[in-house]
Amino acid sequence: MNFSNIRMEMGADGAAAGVAVITINRPEKLNALNRDVMAELRQAFEAAARDSAIRGLILTGAGERAFVAGADIRELAAIDAVGAERLSSQGQSTFRLLESMGKPSVAAINGFSLGGGMELALACTARIASENAKLGQPEVKLGIVPGYGATQRLPRLVGRGRALELLLTGEVIDAAEAHRIGLVNHVVPQAELLPFSNAWMMKVLANGPLAVALTMQAVDAGYDAGMDAGFRFEALAFGLTAATEDRREGTQAFLEKRVPRFTGK
Ligand code: COA
Repeated sequence: MNFSNIRMEMGADGAAAGVAVITINRPEKLNALNRDVMAELRQAFEAAARDSAIRGLILTGAGERAFVAGADIRELAAIDAVGAERLSSQGQSTFRLLESMGKPSVAAINGFSLGGGMELALACTARIASENAKLGQPEVKLGIVPGYGATQRLPRLVGRGRALELLLTGEVIDAAEAHRIGLVNHVVPQAELLPFSNAWMMKVLANGPLAVALTMQAVDAGYDAGMDAGFRFEALAFGLTAATEDRREGTQAFLEKRVPRFTGK
């Protein structure tokens, strides 16, 4: 697809076939998310959701300084209340699409991950940071509330107390601290960020595709609906996987002491 503010490339930067690398490409503005970037991210996620050749996504920022340094403050400075509510709702739904499409995603955080950038990373399945990464939700310093999901996802990821501290102080933390509190899954040297993210993805994609998608949905379904609803979903998903060729292949391969060849059927 042709984009102006992002790049979407299959197998880029050494990524394996089936992995789309989406690079937010405004390095001169530290990859800040303006309306054009958000619209292109929406199109990219819609394409990824419907394209069966895309099995996983890696998101990163162009350059070596930033993943995404937030929503575009120049736009925020000029926005009215109705426009801001709409921007927030649309952004929430774009990030929700990424989170809920049933395909694993990695935020490869190669520098500043602030505000809306952190919210994009929170919507990914995993966050892998380079050692120079700086992360935070500084919105309150601008007199605004996070609008792309941080008030909801951050407490669920790192716990209410830590989330409130980050959200209310607006403090920016380094990669080691982010790792300590569970905000990022791994920290690696910058040169290893994309290879490591790709290796993480390959570990997931080596497994049964339907099982991966249904596991993500089961975690998502039960997280807020409660354990009983989650258990129900899990049992139904478990039943569904039992009807798949992948289940037959996965169990058979174990018994025959060989590597499974999953087909996603
Ligand atoms: N929105 C719009 N432009 C941004 C931006 C954002 N969120 N973050 C950085 N930029 C722009 C800067 O305005 C600057 O543009 P210019 O060269 O035209 O002046 C360019 O990116 C480089 O940033 P600069 O501030 O010069 O780099 P720095 O190394 O001095 O500082 C940061 C880096 C990340 C600390 C600083 O840019 C910053 O605080 N950005 C805003 C972070 C934020 O509050 N994000 C949440 C928004 S909801």
